[in-house]
Amino acid sequence: MKKQKSQYTCSSCGYISLRWLGKCPECNNWNSFVEEIVEKESSKHTAAPKSTQPYSLKNIEASSSNRTKTGISEFDRVLGGGLMPGSVTLLGGDPGIGKSTLVLQVAANLTSKVLYVSGEESGEQIKLRANRLHVKSEELLFLPETELHTILSVIKQESPFLVIIDSIQTIYDANMENSPGSLSQLRETTSRLMEETKKHGFATIIIGHITKEGTLAGPKILEHIVDTVIMFEGETSHAYRILRAQKNRFGSTNEIGVFEMHDSGLREVTNPSELFIGERKTNISGSVISASIEGTRPLLIEVQALVTPSHFGNPQRVSNGIDYRRLSILLAVIEKRNNNRLSAANVFLNITGGVRIEEPAIDLPVCCAIISNLLDKPIDPSMVIIGEVGLGGEIRSVSFPEKRILEAEKMGFRKIIMPAQSVKALNYKGSMKLIGVEYLNEAADMCLL
Ligand code: TYD
Ligand code: MG
Repeated sequence: MKKQKSQYTCSSCGYISLRWLGKCPECNNWNSFVEEIVEKESSKHTAAPKSTQPYSLKNIEASSSNRTKTGISEFDRVLGGGLMPGSVTLLGGDPGIGKSTLVLQVAANLTSKVLYVSGEESGEQIKLRANRLHVKSEELLFLPETELHTILSVIKQESPFLVIIDSIQTIYDANMENSPGSLSQLRETTSRLMEETKKHGFATIIIGHITKEGTLAGPKILEHIVDTVIMFEGETSHAYRILRAQKNRFGSTNEIGVFEMHDSGLREVTNPSELFIGERKTNISGSVISASIEGTRPLLIEVQALVTPSHFGNPQRVSNGIDYRRLSILLAVIEKRNNNRLSAANVFLNITGGVRIEEPAIDLPVCCAIISNLLDKPIDPSMVIIGEVGLGGEIRSVSFPEKRILEAEKMGFRKIIMPAQSVKALNYKGSMKLIGVEYLNEAADMCLL
């Protein structure tokens, strides 16, 4: 019998150790090591070097025009302009969020041959979904298979334009001892798919499950292998879904795509501002509209704050949609620079619509929402607020002010509170009233009704 060798791999960062460790020295996670059986040295590792030559970059032709648009523009935008031949895209997201629906719609929109490999659902289930989506693509081939080599041989035989793997956790390589979904299987099957994709120039979309912590299962390892990682986010109880790139070798990672789930599948939301601020109630304290930039697109969002007295020594701070530490810093700035007592208050902050904002221009609207709710005075409903807040309470300039102003104007707003510095740098001739502010207390005075 072949002697088996084991190694231990950290399931969150992929660190490999020859013995089991309680804590990962790389990512400091506890209990993250899982045992993997490694094959005895195989001949492929001892192969003689092939003769090969490096070549000059100037002799390589590269153009981005060979991307294929899927026709679902929100999806294309996140990919960086369309599907790139020879690329592998990992699509992650919670169960039931709509990953299979999205890829089926993408497949149906393409006029080229698509191979849909499903290890999770039967042909009947996929057919039912396709009927629901009114998909009638003659070019869509379905393969209920989970063994890697069988899949690869079908790919070779059919030479499709796009291969969809739903999901990678169900695919296994029969030459390996580990069970499907284990780290070694994930790594091996993904690398093999990647190799074939690059060699034959088709495109591959791999669906991956995510763990309850919200990261892709197995995964940092997969993220390193593939070209593009996109996550499908949202609450299954809400209709909207956000597609966001986490890594993209062929485009920016800032772009988002917004969809709404309907009875007949996912519908693109081409004007997300309308969706995110549509349910806003005016004359309620603690609510403010801000204009954020996601990638190249301005997006109006609503920031809501609730401030309540804390009767127990340790006040609660909950932040949904912005970084928790950022909120703590802003609370300290409000306390010190605007003289509002917050140390004994519970503060709950929410960006509606489940969007997550990473950019600093959200600082000032967050502060204004908190101050508004604390004083129980609503913010002028015709107003949009943007600006970064420094530790001195000074308001710092933001990127792309004009795009934000135009979006606010388009959505019917009349005034915008923004950094004085950004106003000076602008040559805006529209109808919005630009109110430049230099300090937090000025902005707070100006925005409350
Ligand atoms: P699905 O694509 O199967 O999710 P995933 O592959 O990410 O697990 O979609 C699942 C949910 O979407 C399911 O709860 C039903 C809902 N849905 C609709 O609301 N409308 C539709 O047209 C379809 C196909 C699904
Ligand atoms: Mg699915």
